[in-house]
Amino acid sequence: MIASLRFSSLARKVREQIDQEHRYAHSVRVARCAENLARHHGVDPAKARLAGMLHDLARLYSGERLLNESRARGFEISDREREHPVLLHARLGAALATELFGVEDRDVLSAIEKHTTGADRMSPLDCIIYLADSLEPHRKFPERAALWEYAMRDLTGATRETMRLSAIHQSKKLAREKARGTFGGVSQSAS
Ligand SMILES: [Fe+2]
Ligand SMILES: [Fe+2]
Repeated sequence: MIASLRFSSLARKVREQIDQEHRYAHSVRVARCAENLARHHGVDPAKARLAGMLHDLARLYSGERLLNESRARGFEISDREREHPVLLHARLGAALATELFGVEDRDVLSAIEKHTTGADRMSPLDCIIYLADSLEPHRKFPERAALWEYAMRDLTGATRETMRLSAIHQSKKLAREKARGTFGGVSQSAS
């Protein structure tokens, strides 16, 4: 199965799917950060690297394509997802990981599905991918370095804190956009 291929083969195939250098480079950084966190916390580093590489397979799809491809696969689509289809890239990305890369590992698929919004219940691997995506070195926000240090100590605590800060950031951003009359929802910053 493709999931067992060498990293170079996986990377080549991901690069073909993600047709943009910027997003591909982000995926490689997320994979590296995830592998690093996994080794540190005794989680399977191969699963972390794989989930990191594949987490954004559908991130560049248009809203229309995300909705169409999600409907085609029978996903239930919430009102929030209908309003902000970018949120669907996480679930659709997990489906693509299976369809295009042969990934059937539930741990890996769960981590891809939860990487954007997090969830009430998250496994250590779910937390690792959420944190690696939020805290990879090209993210520029003041708390990034402190949160990374926190993540090296405590996956659950760091995930909770990163989700809390992300929610604050989102609500401030929406308030600014509404005040300017440029409301763009979560589409610009969902990771
Ligand atoms: Fe993403
Ligand atoms: Fe991402």
